[in-house]
Amino acid sequence: MSAPGGSASSPASQVRKGLEGVIASATSVGDVDGAHCRLIYRGYSIDELVGKTSFEEVSHLLLEGALPTRAQLGAWTKQLDAARPLEPQALSCLQALPASADPMALLRTAVSVLGLYDPDAEDMALEAMKRKAVRSIAKTATIVAAIGRLRQRQQPIAPKTGLPHAANFLYMLLGQEPPAEHAQALDAYFVLLAEHGLNASTFTARTVTGTQSDYFSAITAAIGTLKGPLHGAANRKAMDMLLEIGRPEQVEPYVQKTLADHKRFMGFGHRVYKGEDPRAKHLKAIAKRLSEHSKEPQWFAISERLQEAVQKAKGLSINVDFYSASLLHYIGIPTELFTTMFACARMPGWSAHVIEQALDNRLIRPLAEYIGPRDLRFVPLDQRLQPL
Ligand code: COA
Repeated sequence: MSAPGGSASSPASQVRKGLEGVIASATSVGDVDGAHCRLIYRGYSIDELVGKTSFEEVSHLLLEGALPTRAQLGAWTKQLDAARPLEPQALSCLQALPASADPMALLRTAVSVLGLYDPDAEDMALEAMKRKAVRSIAKTATIVAAIGRLRQRQQPIAPKTGLPHAANFLYMLLGQEPPAEHAQALDAYFVLLAEHGLNASTFTARTVTGTQSDYFSAITAAIGTLKGPLHGAANRKAMDMLLEIGRPEQVEPYVQKTLADHKRFMGFGHRVYKGEDPRAKHLKAIAKRLSEHSKEPQWFAISERLQEAVQKAKGLSINVDFYSASLLHYIGIPTELFTTMFACARMPGWSAHVIEQALDNRLIRPLAEYIGPRDLRFVPLDQRLQPL
């Protein structure tokens, strides 16, 4: 496979930089159809699901392979309810960490800690993995809410039994039951981000699982991958961009400066979708509705103008993170928590892929094209010269 003397950019190279276009596994969890800009969860287009199903139903769909019946949903919701409180040891551990650390670093650590207390931690049998998935989906939201409160030097709030997942999260973070519009907006956000094929963090989770390591190692590694600004942290950077622009009239000068500085527009572009990300229109519609009832309509106005200006100037379409930014802002989520919200949403997708990988496993082990020197002769330590 190696091309002597060649480089990753030479015409002879077989490297697919960034693994672009490489099909690395078969899956029935979800389909990211880049050519037609469609996203499918276990056979259902997201356009079919959003606004009609809850995050609870979608997590059942992803993990069990089918939308739940009413009785199944009742049982599923009960399991989530029971799993939502954090073990006192896990909460004490979170409280002992520096609250000012990056929330994704705190979440990564806290999810790793969950694995130390989970009764099924090392059990990779199907039913044990599903139990861990349910517990992780439930507890991640509790952890993120606690991180948010500890950052504000406030005590974490315990979950309220019977409140749906999205509403429960807002209750634990903000200290009161949210308006229905906010709970619905967050629920739809969770639904839209629950699964996305072999994105970088899911690929990481599958790679870890491929070594027959444990569920919590896979999810912890996925969280570390999501933390990067080219992946999950783009939502946070997109909000920073809106705040920096400040007023709709500043959009065009901002675009010109960003182009001149050869910087990236966060929340734009996608490796797979050849046009607009199919999640974006739904997030945009929700952000628009929220802006109409907000005292800060400018964030949506700036977003809309920026979407148009960047499309015109650079031909780039928006991705999932662009309108996630104003949506999350409008429902009261602090910007620094945005990427942890993405992690809460993606927990069912990651878990379903871990399970799928574990049940039909083969070690994931690609090759590298070596482009370094060869045939160097060993030089004893005291004869080595300082490089010029
Ligand atoms: N702003 C400005 N230019 C962008 C861009 C963006 N958001 N996204 C891609 N481009 C440009 C690159 O500068 C590059 O141009 P060049 O060939 O002249 O250097 C070209 O498009 C290809 O970029 P590349 O990074 O190779 O594409 P990719 O498929 O690897 O990247 C992303 C995909 C998502 C990483 C990329 O679009 C990006 O960085 N977007 C911003 C971060 C973001 O929103 N991430 C969330 C993704 S859901």
